[in-house]
Amino acid sequence: MKYFVLVFFVLTSVFYTSQNSFTFPVIPLPNNYTITSGQFIISEKTSVYCSSENLKEQINYFNAFLKNNNQINLVATNESTRKNCIKVFWDKNQTSESYQLTINPENIIIKGDTTGIFYAFQTIIQLINSQTAKTIKLPGLFIYDKPAFKWRGMHLDVSRHFFSVDFVKRYIDFLAMYKLNTFHWHLTDDQGWRIEIKKYPKLTQIGAFRKGSMIGKYSDSNYDTINYGGFYTQNQIKEVVAYAQKKHITVVPEIEMPGHSQAAIAAYPWLSCSGKYQDVAKGWGVFEDVFCTKDSTINFLHHVLDEVVNLFPGKYIHIGGDECPKTRWKACANCQSLIKKQNLKDEHELQSYFIKQIEKYLNSKGKQIIGWDEILEGGLAPNAAVMSWRGMEGGIAAAKEKHFVVMSPGTHCYFDHYQSSPSDEPLAIGGFTPLEKVYDFNPIPQELNADEQKYILGAQANVWTEYILNEKQVEYMTMPRMAALAEVLWTMRVNKNETNFLIRLQDHFAKLDNLNLNYAKALYNVDYKVSPASQCKNLKLELSANNYLGDIYYTLDGSEPSEKSIKYTTSIELKKDILVKSALFKNHELKGKVVSRNYQINKATNKLPIFKYPPSKYYNKGGSFVLVNGETAKLPRINDQWLGWNGNDIEVVIDLEKPDEITSVEIGFLKEELNWIYLPKEITLLLSENGLEYKTVDTLFEKNIKNDRDCNFIVSKQQARFVKIIAKNHGKILSGKPGAGEDAWLFCDEIKIN
Ligand code: ACM
Ligand code: ZN
Repeated sequence: MKYFVLVFFVLTSVFYTSQNSFTFPVIPLPNNYTITSGQFIISEKTSVYCSSENLKEQINYFNAFLKNNNQINLVATNESTRKNCIKVFWDKNQTSESYQLTINPENIIIKGDTTGIFYAFQTIIQLINSQTAKTIKLPGLFIYDKPAFKWRGMHLDVSRHFFSVDFVKRYIDFLAMYKLNTFHWHLTDDQGWRIEIKKYPKLTQIGAFRKGSMIGKYSDSNYDTINYGGFYTQNQIKEVVAYAQKKHITVVPEIEMPGHSQAAIAAYPWLSCSGKYQDVAKGWGVFEDVFCTKDSTINFLHHVLDEVVNLFPGKYIHIGGDECPKTRWKACANCQSLIKKQNLKDEHELQSYFIKQIEKYLNSKGKQIIGWDEILEGGLAPNAAVMSWRGMEGGIAAAKEKHFVVMSPGTHCYFDHYQSSPSDEPLAIGGFTPLEKVYDFNPIPQELNADEQKYILGAQANVWTEYILNEKQVEYMTMPRMAALAEVLWTMRVNKNETNFLIRLQDHFAKLDNLNLNYAKALYNVDYKVSPASQCKNLKLELSANNYLGDIYYTLDGSEPSEKSIKYTTSIELKKDILVKSALFKNHELKGKVVSRNYQINKATNKLPIFKYPPSKYYNKGGSFVLVNGETAKLPRINDQWLGWNGNDIEVVIDLEKPDEITSVEIGFLKEELNWIYLPKEITLLLSENGLEYKTVDTLFEKNIKNDRDCNFIVSKQQARFVKIIAKNHGKILSGKPGAGEDAWLFCDEIKIN
C-alpha cells in the first residue's frame, strides 16, 4: 500500500511538472486530488460568481488577497454560466469543513460549506504560492478534500513572553494557511497574567508585570532587572476572537488553575493558602504557591470565568491543571478541612474536587472544560476533555474512560524543543523534535480499539515561550514544524509520505519568503553518525540528509564546504583527529548551514568500556559506545551523547587489548546542579598490566577540577593494558538545593587515552 501511494505521488508530480511546469506546493496535502490538463489564468478579466449572500465574507477575503498580492480586482457577476469565472457554490450537503475544487481552462468551481469554501481558497492561495504578477497561472485539477481530525490546534504561551495583538493575528494567519482550526491561547501563568478582568483590575495592574526575567540557560540562574510585561484588554481579546472567527478558527483560552498561578497571587495574595505576598515569578519552572481550595478563591475564579466565557464563544475553556505542587495544601487548615469534609483520600483527590467544582460552574454556563492530563489524578471530572502532554498515556486512559482527548505529547508536539542538534541552534528549553518526527506523529495510539479511538479529537503543538523571547523567534520555532503538524491532522495517514512532503515544502518556502517569515532551515542540516569501523581503532562516519533536499559536500581540512569540496557518496573512515565540515547544496545554492564536528581518535576509541554498575536505563540511549566514539558532547546537552548514573559511582575499565604506553587520560563530566547532575567527589585513575592487580596513578578531587568537560590525568609514560577510572558519586543532594535529599546524578560523555 505504501509503495503504491509513493508511486502515485511520484507519477503525478512528474506528470504535473512536465505538463504545466507547476509544482504542487499545497500543505496539508489534499486527501483526494487529480491533476487534469490545461491551466486557468486569473487576471483583471476574471470574474467571480457566488451562489449565496452568506459567502460574501469568503469572497471578500480572497479578493483582498489578490488585490494585495497581485494587484488584481475580480469583477463580481450574477451570471452563473459565465466563462473565465471563479464560481462559488454553497453546498449544504458537504459535510463540515469539506470542499470540492475544480480548476479547468474555463473556470474555477468551488463547492462546500462556508468553512470548506474558506479552505478551498486557502488551497488556491497556496497554489498561487510566490506568483505576484498580474496574471496567475493555476494548474487544471480536481480536489475533493476533508480533514482527518476535528481538533487541529496550535498553542501559544503569552505569559513567559508577551506578544502583540498584531503578532497574534499574524500567528492566526499561519494557522489559517494550514487549515488549522483551534488556537489555544495560554493567557495566565506564574510569570504574567495577560487578560484584563474588570472585577479584579490588579490581575493586570500588578499580575501582568514582573520585575525581571531569567536570562540564558536555566542552570545559569541569571536574571535581568528589566520590568517586563503586558496584557490584552477585553476589547483586544474580542478583536482577536473576531479575527480568528473570520478565519474559521476557534480560540480556546487557558486560565491556569490551581497551579501556575503566582502572577494572580502577586495581585491578590489572599488567593493562596498562606496569604503571603509573592512577586510575579521572574524565573521559569514550577512554583509552590498555588490557588488555595477555599471558598473565597473558588468564588474569585467563578468571577474571572464569568468574564472569560463572555469573551470566548467556543465550547471549550482550558483550565490548566498541570504541575500543581501540593506542599501548601498539605500545610493549609482550609485545604485540610475540605479534605475531611468531602471525605477525600489525599491532595490529589482535593485537586480533582477543585476541578470538578470549576467544571460544574462552567457546564452551567454552557461550556466544557479541557485540562492537562494531571486532571486524571484523583479522578476525572465527569465531562472533562484531556490534553495529553506527558506522553500519550493520559490520553489513552481518558479515551478508555470515554472522555474526549487532544494529543499533545512532549515527544512530538512541543515546538519549544530543539529541531536540530542544540549546538547548531539558538538556546531552547531542551528536547529534540525535528521536523521529520513531527511529520511522523500519529495521534491515534494503537492501544485503543476502534470505539475508543473515536474519542481522540485530534492534536495540537505547544509553544511555551520561556526561551522564545520575541516574535521572530516564535516564527523560527513554529515554522515549518506547523506545516508538518497540519499534514498530520488534515491528511489521512495512508495519503501521507515524508519525501513528497519535503518536496512540496521546498516549493512552499517561496511563499514563506514572500511573507517575510523567519522559518527554520534545520531540515537542511546534515546529520552525523559515527559507529565502529571494521578496523578496530577507526571510526566510520556517515553523513545523511534527505536526497530530495540536495547533495552533501564535505571537507576534512577545516575549510568551508562548497560544491568544489568532496561530494559525499559513501561513509568516511576516520583514522586520526579530524574536523569534518559539511553542508547541503542544491542548484548551486548552500541550503541550511555548515555543520562541523570534531573527532579525536585515541587509544580508547572504539574499545568496549566495562562498567561495574550499569548506567541508568533513562540515560543510556547511545549505549556505552558514546564514551569512546571520539566525540566530546557539545552543549547544550543532548541526552544520547551522555551516559548517566543515579546515585552510583562510575567504575569503568577499558581494555586496550595489548600493553601500550600511556601518557594521559581524560574524562568528561557534566555539572548541572539545577538538574541534579553533579561532578564526582573524586576521580581515581588506576592502571594494570593483567586486569587483576591495579596500581593507583592519581586521584583528582572535585575542588581541583578546573574543567569538568575534560578532567585530565597526566601519566609519566607507563605501560599498561587495562585502564580503570573510578568516579565517586556526589551522594545525596544537600538541603536547600533542587532535588534536596535525592541521589545526585553523574553524567559522563567521553574517555580519551593517549
Ligand atoms: C505543560 O507543558 N506543563 C503542560
Ligand atoms: Zn489552602
